[in-house]
Amino acid sequence: MEYVQFGKTGATVSRLGFGGAALGIKNYIRPYDPAADESRESAHKALETAVELGVTYFDTAPAYGDGISEAIVGDVLGCLEPGRIFLATTCVPTDYDGVMRSIEGSLKRLRRDYVDLLQIHGGTYTDERARKILAPQGMAEAMEKAKADGLVRFIGFTSEDNNRATFDLIECGCFDAVQLCYNFTFQHPYEPTRPFGSLLAAEKQGMGIAGMRAPTSGLFQRWMKMIRADDDFDYGPALLQFVFSNPLVDVVLVGMRSPERVRQNVAIANNVAGRIDLKLLHRRNVTE
Ligand SMILES: NC(=O)c1ccc[n+]([C@@H]2O[C@H](COP(=O)([O-])OP(=O)(O)OC[C@H]3O[C@@H](n4cnc5c(N)ncnc54)[C@H](OP(=O)(O)O)[C@@H]3O)[C@@H](O)[C@H]2O)c1
Repeated sequence: MEYVQFGKTGATVSRLGFGGAALGIKNYIRPYDPAADESRESAHKALETAVELGVTYFDTAPAYGDGISEAIVGDVLGCLEPGRIFLATTCVPTDYDGVMRSIEGSLKRLRRDYVDLLQIHGGTYTDERARKILAPQGMAEAMEKAKADGLVRFIGFTSEDNNRATFDLIECGCFDAVQLCYNFTFQHPYEPTRPFGSLLAAEKQGMGIAGMRAPTSGLFQRWMKMIRADDDFDYGPALLQFVFSNPLVDVVLVGMRSPERVRQNVAIANNVAGRIDLKLLHRRNVTE
């Protein structure tokens, strides 16, 4: 397993990160019932296997199945000694008091006294929402207070966008880390030929950077099935290697529900020879 420094947090984390959305959300991406005994057993084994194989970055959220993902993560990781793993969770956009209530609930479900990273669960940001987050008595101030109280070590936000509001939040200097949507079907965050993109902006701020949806949340594979029903090629390794190949992405988050998936993705992460040269991929071959 490769380990990197997670930006200005100074924490050392595994490049493969365990994405917790798939553990808690019913029928997310494919049929799945998080309440079924076999799902719980498989999810627990997936988390145990990840720890055994050297994954140290785990990402979850209260929004994943109304706390179910956090509870499953807490079942397995809650008893680990502090410092063994880097645990990230989120709180949905809310007000100052809402942040405090959200952390309280997360810590209970995660069975921890603190989390390493608390992120605003962004989805999409409008300019107005970004302003509210940064205003006095807004979310950013509440997150700073949680940091000062020792409930969280670092603060950040997640974004599905590459828009102005995302850049404003990156450039405000308040946040230690950011989680951005970046994969083979969503490349706007990284355009090295111009150069432009939220990944580059976050790197400039020295933030820890996690990439979400590396296997495209199944979108690329579904598209290939639509246009070539008999296509059985396994695109997973190529999609993951695309994101692993970007040196700006410290942690490549992948949703995993079974120990087999974890073993497969650890093998992909460990296959450093499988990385590609993104500069060659993005080249335009334009001559003046
Ligand atoms: N804060 C936010 O707004 C936000 C939004 C999206 C994602 N995230 C974070 O990013 C993580 C990853 O995103 P995601 O879970 O939405 O989507 P994802 O990682 O793109 O997709 C997860 C699915 O991909 C499949 N998969 C995993 N490894 C694979 C491989 N090697 N080959 C082929 N398929 C593979 C798994 O299917 P099987 O179930 O069949 O194994 C899994 O259910 C989330 O879990 C979450 O932690 C955060």
